Amino acid sequence: MSEIKQRASFGTRMGAIAASVGSAVGLGNIWRFPYQAGENGGGAYILVYLLCVVLLGIPVIMSEFVIGRSTHKNMKGALRQLSPKSKVHHFAYFCVIGSIVICSFYSVVCGWVIEYLYQAATGTLAGHTPAEYSQVFKDFVGSPVRGVTWTVLFLVINFAVMLLGVRRGVEGVSRVMMPLLFVILIVFCVNSLMLPGSHKGLEFLFSPDFAALGWDGVVDAMGQAFMSLSLGIAALVTYSSYFSDDSPLMKDAVTIASLDTLVALLAGVVIFPAVFSFGFEPAAGPELVFEVLPSVFYQMTGGYWWAILFFVLLFFASLTSTISLSEIPITFLTEEFKMSRAFATLLCAVVVIVLAALCALSFNVLSGATVAGMNIFSLFDYVGSNVFMLLGGLFTAIYVGWFLHKQVIMDQLAVRGRTSSFDYNYVVQCLRFFAPVAILIILYYYVTA
Ligand code: PHE
Repeated sequence: MSEIKQRASFGTRMGAIAASVGSAVGLGNIWRFPYQAGENGGGAYILVYLLCVVLLGIPVIMSEFVIGRSTHKNMKGALRQLSPKSKVHHFAYFCVIGSIVICSFYSVVCGWVIEYLYQAATGTLAGHTPAEYSQVFKDFVGSPVRGVTWTVLFLVINFAVMLLGVRRGVEGVSRVMMPLLFVILIVFCVNSLMLPGSHKGLEFLFSPDFAALGWDGVVDAMGQAFMSLSLGIAALVTYSSYFSDDSPLMKDAVTIASLDTLVALLAGVVIFPAVFSFGFEPAAGPELVFEVLPSVFYQMTGGYWWAILFFVLLFFASLTSTISLSEIPITFLTEEFKMSRAFATLLCAVVVIVLAALCALSFNVLSGATVAGMNIFSLFDYVGSNVFMLLGGLFTAIYVGWFLHKQVIMDQLAVRGRTSSFDYNYVVQCLRFFAPVAILIILYYYVTA
């Protein structure tokens, strides 16, 4: 049998889209986007964000799809095949390390999600005053045993899914969890919109306040588009290497970006009307989800169920993202080092569990271990999001925009043998000019901030 025949692939186009949307939709959409929009002028931030998705997000998704689908290989094998005479394939190490760094700190937050889910289900999360919820959260992250245990438990679930393989594990889980995630979100939206005074939340989220946006807000929106669409570390190269050759890539990229954006907006529609309706402060920042929302849910009728449902939603969103983060090193190890999937999964699990435990401990026993004023968790977050994703995106955009053979891009953009010149020009011009300039601005801003 040929190598390609033996290689796994997604079973259906729906499954491939579900997995990619699963990668994109994560804590970034439900936890980060709403509070960033809240802090940065609502509608003004959303407008800039939408522009970033169109000019930066979709073209960079396409650049990753072109690399992955044209070769059906992991990032290293793909770059080696596309540019056999150059050394660009070494860039794949950067992506693999980036995915491990991001997976490690991200899993700590996923650990918080499942502890909250457990507490909501057993009833112990209920019955606190708003001030006490901040304490509940601080107690939790302050406890080394609890922090590490829940993080490790989450990662065990994550790597158990990975053991099942691309089709049964990655695709199977995404095909179940993604539709359920949308159903839960819509139920929440309807509930939020029916709360008295919900319009104040919608006004807060959507009315554009350009004065509050500022330059910071623009840079945040660009960075958020990158994080939210899972760009720069070959997550989408890896997934698209399992796509079938006849799926219309451009359409798929637009669908994935649109669904990801829709989830972010719906998350805002769920959160702000509820926060306003019960008289809470909307500008809570990152603690919004863990410290403010529990109080909000328990004031609603059926609060027990709302709390559970919300943390189930977050669990689905985060698991499908860590699955895509784990697939990057696993595909790399199985193809480049000829490891079995089981062995590669185990190896990744051990490495990520150790690093994630260090991140969880950085809130308590290791809080004194800091680099440039950041604890290990913040350092991983900072380096993962700002260095790996952004530099990775810069590389991918320049490589595909300037160096990849035109025919490879044309072939991948083709639908039933024909390539629209609009699609080609849109993707290539954005990759050549807009994406590198935008990424350099974000990088400059983060470095000098
Ligand atoms: N896109 C995910 C989110 O919004 C995070 C992620 C980044 C997932 C990179 C995979 C790869 O939360």
